[in-house]
Amino acid sequence: MRKPLVAGNWKMNGTRAGVGELLDGIKAGMGAVPNAEVAVCPPFVLIPEAAARLAGTAVAWGGQNLSTHASGAYTGEIAASMLTDYGCKYVIVGHSERRTLYGEDDALVAEKYEVARKAGLVPILCVGETLEERENGTTEVVVARQLDAVLERFGAAALGQGVVAYEPVWAIGTGRTASPQQAQDVHAFIRGRVAARDRAVADALRVLYGGSMKPDNAVELMAQPDIDGGLIGGASLKASDFLAICKAASG
Ligand code: 13P
Repeated sequence: MRKPLVAGNWKMNGTRAGVGELLDGIKAGMGAVPNAEVAVCPPFVLIPEAAARLAGTAVAWGGQNLSTHASGAYTGEIAASMLTDYGCKYVIVGHSERRTLYGEDDALVAEKYEVARKAGLVPILCVGETLEERENGTTEVVVARQLDAVLERFGAAALGQGVVAYEPVWAIGTGRTASPQQAQDVHAFIRGRVAARDRAVADALRVLYGGSMKPDNAVELMAQPDIDGGLIGGASLKASDFLAICKAASG
């Protein structure tokens, strides 16, 4: 049985003054979430604050990105070891905003995945098609290419140490969620593609859905057999909304 994971991606949001209230609110509700793992991924500068407030609780934390380099002259970058130094468990790699706004290609994302994994982090590999790609009927081609970048280079066992998040680009921050069936279809496709290489890894792999997941659509999405949690943007910034989604995942 796969234990669901709900991870909040705060993106470039949050302040030192506000982070305490949000995290205290999440912590206070964790008693109602016995069967799901919960994590938050704040901006880098808020990670120390999150670590201090979440240490010893059931809520894990992580980064939103990392460098492929270990250290050195890479102005503005953050190394995997800096994340683990602050107790991060997870790190998001290949978010569509990184891919489209910062030019991260499949090869770079795969490299980040591997650097994170080797550092002991659990990488959350984001995949997903644009609206144009969905309308062209190339959703599976795109998702397969993004997945294969890791699978072909590092193997199914490496993928098994991470988490995959299916985030259709057209659903991110738009209020337009994939229907439970649309999401399920792609999740099943992802699992099947991994299963073709290693069935045991595929069976154990958590595939999260992300893209306008809210309290009012979370139950139906989480009920799909291949949806094992969520990667939550906007709704992760409000403790009550985030907790409602966590509860939906916990079942
Ligand atoms: P929203 O939940 O705001 O649509 O964002 C999803 C996302 O990009 C999470 O990584």
